[in-house]
Amino acid sequence: MSPKREKDAITGVETTGHEWDGISELDNPLPRWWLWIFYGCVVWSIGYWVVMPAWPLLTDYTRGIWGHSQRQQVVADLDALKASRGAIGEKLTSMTLEQIEADPTAQQAALAWGKSAFGDNCATCHGAGGGGAKGYPNLNDDVWLWGGSLEDIRHTITVGVRSTSEETRQSQMPAFGRDGILEPAQIRDLSEYVLNLSGRSTDPEAVGRATQLFADNCSTCHGADGKGNRAFGAPNLTDADWLYGGDKQTIIETITKARSGVMPTWGGRLDAPTINALAVYVHSLGGGE
Ligand code: HEC
Ligand code: HEC
Repeated sequence: MSPKREKDAITGVETTGHEWDGISELDNPLPRWWLWIFYGCVVWSIGYWVVMPAWPLLTDYTRGIWGHSQRQQVVADLDALKASRGAIGEKLTSMTLEQIEADPTAQQAALAWGKSAFGDNCATCHGAGGGGAKGYPNLNDDVWLWGGSLEDIRHTITVGVRSTSEETRQSQMPAFGRDGILEPAQIRDLSEYVLNLSGRSTDPEAVGRATQLFADNCSTCHGADGKGNRAFGAPNLTDADWLYGGDKQTIIETITKARSGVMPTWGGRLDAPTINALAVYVHSLGGGE
């Protein structure tokens, strides 16, 4: 039975003939603006089918006359990146570090490349700007354990410190207390001696007692004057810069247990241009020699 269409008495609009519990539906036409948008969409979609990939087929899909493909776009982007990096990468590999620093284009590229590689690989330990933390050297200052020339820095990055590399930078401060080389009282005296190197000891007698101890046990690495030795990565003990801490308690702890910080080797993990860029970047941080 087809629904009965009749005029609604109040609005004068014809009803659809549907009725629910005495409420009937008016058959108003769709608004014009809505219709035009609808027709517009239909036309648009047909155009879209024609130019863009659209319909799935059994084994393929309609590719559209523009031949657009996001995969192609990615490949093209990657090629462009490779090409731009390739040219710079070649420069950063073939030039010496000094030449890179002297050539403004190469230097800019190295700094940008080095900064991003630093963020990815080094900032976890050395801090975002290379500011360091306890046990992780500050790379912004002119205090260097192993040396701050371009070549020193590149070598440290390549082989690491006490790392798994066969060529690693190496040295081992003995754990004087833990391994029973010195008595706790001697270590306390030595801590006063170390404090005295930066003019902070209040116990001249302890310093006197430790003088020979320092000469016998420490000066091979830290130098007779306590100013350190880069051949062993042994820090200068006379300045205000401390890797682990310069208060008496921390110094006693260092002498008792030793520290032996580890810096990973990057030679096998990062390619030559990246390591060179990192060396130039670290060198630029403020303390380069
Ligand atoms: C797992 C932590 C760690 C990571 C990651 C790390 N380092 Fe180090 N780095 C150290 C430690 C610890 C030392 C100090 C080692 C020592 O006691 O001689 C060090 C030392 C250095 C030094 C020598 C500083 C000096 O005073 O001579 C340089 C340069 C350096 N790191 C650069 C880098 C760069 C560049 C990266 C990233 C490619 C990096 N490090 C990643 C821990 C790390
Ligand atoms: C074999 C070489 C060697 C000898 C010997 C040695 N040291 Fe060290 N010392 C180091 C190295 C290397 C470091 C760097 C810290 C690390 O191991 O990561 C260091 C670090 C230190 C530090 C920490 C400095 C800081 O900035 O926090 C103190 C303090 C210190 N040594 C005191 C001594 C004293 C005192 C003696 C003698 C009893 C001594 N060392 C003997 C190699 C040596």
